Amino acid sequence: MSEVIIKLHNIYKSFEEKHVLQGFNLEVLSGETFVILGPSGCGKSVALKIITGLLKADCGKVEIFGQDVSNFQEKDWSKIRRNFGFLFQNSALFDSLNVEDNIAFSLRQSFDYSDEEIKECIIKNLKLIGLPGIEKKMPSELSGGMKKRVGLARAIALNPKVIFYDEPTTGLDPIRASGIDNLINKLKEKLNITSLVITHDLKSAFSIADRIGLHYNGKIQNICTADEFQKSTNSMVQQFLSGSTIGPIQ
Ligand SMILES: Nc1ncnc2c1ncn2[C@@H]1O[C@H](COP(=O)(O)OP(=O)(O)OP(=O)(O)O)[C@@H](O)[C@H]1O
Ligand SMILES: [Mg+2]
Repeated sequence: MSEVIIKLHNIYKSFEEKHVLQGFNLEVLSGETFVILGPSGCGKSVALKIITGLLKADCGKVEIFGQDVSNFQEKDWSKIRRNFGFLFQNSALFDSLNVEDNIAFSLRQSFDYSDEEIKECIIKNLKLIGLPGIEKKMPSELSGGMKKRVGLARAIALNPKVIFYDEPTTGLDPIRASGIDNLINKLKEKLNITSLVITHDLKSAFSIADRIGLHYNGKIQNICTADEFQKSTNSMVQQFLSGSTIGPIQ
């Protein structure tokens, strides 16, 4: 039985009258890629912010690596976050820094590496994401797909145990999107990284997910393997897969 890395138990979160999470439960297991699908505005990013300590739940319990973090203060979160890598939708590279300095900046913040070690780490991770030799390029010289891969190189250089991906393939053509999917799979196989991925991209979800859950009505519904999800007779899942405007999801 795999270790539970992230556990959310009966989480509630509202913004004034808007009840976003209502009894939200989630368990992400060590080494798996868990994909959350769900309509826009259902609260996927809010859930991700609660898991990473950027938002506090109104009630419920959050456990990370078996530790109850529900009442953690910011200083405690910063220790936990050292184990996390983030790939944001827009890659979030510093536009004024070249690729090398973008990666080096995060490394210097987190580790006490020598210049030589930093250089080696950058070379190794740019190779891993399939973009060796682009150290001196500025973000403005990179395509959207390349920026995402550099964002990923920056995240994995920090040697995280868990990577959070918010819409990793949005805005990419199908070939570049498959490239990102392949990388996510490669990181799982090579580094045994646990991943939590939020996406609207069904093709991507089915090529990376060990398990998938549909986020709707404030909670994750119908958690199952990618195969089972595609064959599910659940009316919400069927509507989401078909993209029909008629059905339980409004
Ligand atoms: N800080 C906040 N203050 C008030 N309302 C918020 C806040 N953050 C999120 N919300 C609301 O919570 C709901 C869920 O937002 P969230 O960003 O989690 O959606 P999402 O599922 O990630 O959508 P998308 O797929 O479009 O990214 C939205 O109605 C949003 O307006
Ligand atoms: Mg979102």
